[in-house]
Amino acid sequence: MKENNKLWGGRFSSSSAKLLEEFNTSLPFDKRLYKQDIKCSKAHAKMLEKCEIINTKEKDLIINGLETIESLIDSGEFKFCISDEDIHMAVEKKLIELIGDSGKKLHTARSRNDQVAVDFRLFVLEQNKYIRSLLINLIETLINISQSHTDTIMPGMTHLQHAQPVNFAFILCAYVNMFMRDIHRLEDSYKQNNYCPLGSAALAGTPYNTDRFYTARELGFASPTLNAMDSVSDRDFALDFLYSLSVIVMHISRFAEELVLWSSSEFAFITLSDSYSTGSSIMPQKKNPDIPELLRGKSGRVYGNLISLLTTLKGLPLAYNKDTQEDKECVFDSLDTIDISLRILNDMLKEITINKQNMENACKMGHLTATDLADFLVQAVKIPFREAHHIVGKVVAYAESCNKDLSELTEDELCKVDSKIPQEAHKVLDIYTSMNSRNSYGGTSTASTQAQIQSIIAWLEIHKIGL
Ligand code: ARG
Repeated sequence: MKENNKLWGGRFSSSSAKLLEEFNTSLPFDKRLYKQDIKCSKAHAKMLEKCEIINTKEKDLIINGLETIESLIDSGEFKFCISDEDIHMAVEKKLIELIGDSGKKLHTARSRNDQVAVDFRLFVLEQNKYIRSLLINLIETLINISQSHTDTIMPGMTHLQHAQPVNFAFILCAYVNMFMRDIHRLEDSYKQNNYCPLGSAALAGTPYNTDRFYTARELGFASPTLNAMDSVSDRDFALDFLYSLSVIVMHISRFAEELVLWSSSEFAFITLSDSYSTGSSIMPQKKNPDIPELLRGKSGRVYGNLISLLTTLKGLPLAYNKDTQEDKECVFDSLDTIDISLRILNDMLKEITINKQNMENACKMGHLTATDLADFLVQAVKIPFREAHHIVGKVVAYAESCNKDLSELTEDELCKVDSKIPQEAHKVLDIYTSMNSRNSYGGTSTASTQAQIQSIIAWLEIHKIGL
C-alpha cells in the first residue's frame, strides 16, 4: 500500500493530489504567523511539563528545537514546502526532524484548531497595538502643526460652501478627534478579545489534566476562553480588527480628500512637497496629488476585506470548518494597507507648506460673517432673529452689487442699507473677531482651539502607555 507521509497520513492509502496541495495549503500566507506559532508552542510545552504530561528533558528539547526553528526562519534558511499544508505542520514536522520522538509529544492536548485560533488571535492583538502606535504618531504630527496655526484663519465649510471662519488648527483637531476615537475603538476590541483559546483542542476540550490558565497567563492574555467549541470557531477578533481598520481608512480617506482639494489651484491652501507628489507623463507642468488620492482610494479594498470575512463566516456550523482558513489574507491585506497609509500620511504631513495668506484671502469670499451680523442685531439691538436674517440678506445683496465681500464694507455703507443697523455693528464683520467670538467649549476661537490642543496632549500621555 502506498503511504501518505503527512503528519496526519495514518489512515490514508494514497498521497495527496498535486492540485489538492496547491488548493489546500495556507503556508504561503500563514508562514507570517511563525513567531506566534512558536511562542504558543513554547507556552504549551511548558504547561505540559508543569502538568506532568511530559518530563523536563522533553520540554527542554522541545523549547530548544522551537528556538532553532525560529532562527532558521528568521535567517531565511528554513525551507517551506507547501505539502506541509500550514505553518503549524511545517514547524511541528521540522521539530520532529530535529529532536526526534520528544517532538512528537508537543501536539498532546491540543489540535491545529485551537493552535490556529490562538496564533492568529495573538497576531491580531499585537498588530492592534502597532496600529495604535502609528495613530499616536500621526496625532502627534497633527498637533505639532496645529500649535503654530491656532490663528491661521480659513473658511469653514458646510456643503463645501463657505460658511464661517475657523482656524486651520481647529480643522486639524477635528481629524485628530477621529483618530483618537480610532484608538479607543482598538483599545476596546483589544480588551474584548484578550482571551486565550489554546487548550480547547479540536472542539470539546481535552481529557488530559491541563492548565489553561497557565498558558493564558504565559502568553499575556487576561484568561482562557470559556467554551471550547466557540473558541475554535470564533473569528470575531478578526472582524473587530477589520472593522476598526475600515473606520480608520474612512477617516484617512476624508482627510485625503481635503488634501486633494486644498492643494488644487482653486484652493491653494497647502502645497504638497515635491517628494510626495508625482508628475504627468504628458503634461510637463503638472504636479499631481497621487498620494492623497491613493490614500482615499484604499478604502475600497479595506471595506471589501471586512465584507469578505463576514461572508465567509456566515452560515458556518460549529465548530472548526476549513472555510475559516480564508480569515488570514483579508486581515493581512487590510493591515498592510493601513500600516503604509498611516506612515505615508504622517511623513507627507511633516512636509506640507501651509499657505496662510491664501487661506485668509479665501475668507474674503462668501460673506462669512453674515451670521455674526445677524447675531449682533439680535443680541445688541434686540431685533427678532428672523427679521435680523432678512436685514443681513439685504446687506449681502448690497455688498454683491458693489462686488465686495461683507467684511470689506465700510461703516457708512453698512448703516446705509437699513436704519436699524447701528455703527458698532461694523466691528462684527471682521473675520478674526468672528472666529474668536466662537469661544464656546469645543468652538473655533484661538483660545478654545488652544485648550483643545492641551486636552489632546494630556490624552496622548495616557494612551501611549503600553504601546
Ligand atoms: N491552516 C488551517 C487554518 O488556517 C489550520 C487549521 C486546520 N485545522 C484542520 N482541522 N484542518 O485554518
